[in-house]
Amino acid sequence: MPGDSFRLIREVPDACVDLVMTDVPYPDMKIHDGTRRIIASEEWIEWFKPLAIEIKRVLKPTGSFVTTINSKKDRGFYFDWVAWMRQTLEFHFVLPHYWVKKNIIPGSVKRMRFPRDGVDHIAWFGATPRYYANLGAIDNWKKYNPATTTPTNMIYASTMDDMSYHRAKKKTGIDHTGKYPELIPDLFIQILTQPGGTVLEPFLGTGTTAIVAAKHGRECMAFERNMKNVTLARAAMKEARKLYNFDDVFQVLSARKWKLFRQSQAASR
Ligand SMILES: C[S@@+](CC[C@H](N)C(=O)[O-])C[C@H]1O[C@@H](n2cnc3c(N)ncnc32)[C@H](O)[C@@H]1O
Repeated sequence: MPGDSFRLIREVPDACVDLVMTDVPYPDMKIHDGTRRIIASEEWIEWFKPLAIEIKRVLKPTGSFVTTINSKKDRGFYFDWVAWMRQTLEFHFVLPHYWVKKNIIPGSVKRMRFPRDGVDHIAWFGATPRYYANLGAIDNWKKYNPATTTPTNMIYASTMDDMSYHRAKKKTGIDHTGKYPELIPDLFIQILTQPGGTVLEPFLGTGTTAIVAAKHGRECMAFERNMKNVTLARAAMKEARKLYNFDDVFQVLSARKWKLFRQSQAASR
């Protein structure tokens, strides 16, 4: 659904989502929503609060909220945010996960003053301590971390591997530098939802979460306020459909269809 996620999420019925899976706009970086805004890490928690409250409301008690997150300037903000999510909204902080960026280019090490940041946080919160998870849904852990065959909380991934995005970028001429790799939602969608489950992506970007949800037979509702990105996401979904062979489920909903969709979600609770 095109539009502002802070507004649109308020229209989603209570307790109907199994997983909110996203890659939030990071603090201290451009937001890629057409406004080129940068939200400093000290303001970011305040900025995110209204959305966090809504995420908690739309999740089922068995649901989870997962996002990648980091800051270019103040890594410490992350711990303040996790504390706020736990103490104020009573989210259950499950287990730290990390995105290890496997294709990071180190530059000239001799001239570097600080360690290079090649790892982002992946925050996983259960809506309650009764969150649903099934690690048995994964049959090949090496896909996420080549160093292990057992469950891992270090995901080695690169957006370079996501062919549907690269093909769509070429076809549309639209670029998006804030994409996250398919492997991240791939893991969490499989372990935190069951086939037919509902995923909500408040920051669709290039469509990564929606593509992976469709690939695994999950429903995904998504918000994106930059129409250029919606066009790119639609093209990427088309390419992914050819690669993974699933039905084209990407629909840009009119206000009327969005209302009907919400009613059907509320009725199926
Ligand atoms: C970090 S990117 C998400 C990238 C996405 N996960 C992907 O793999 O392509 C954040 C996206 O959120 C969008 N966005 C930022 N603020 C928004 C808002 N208030 N409502 C809806 N979309 C927003 C931006 O346009 C951008 O495409």
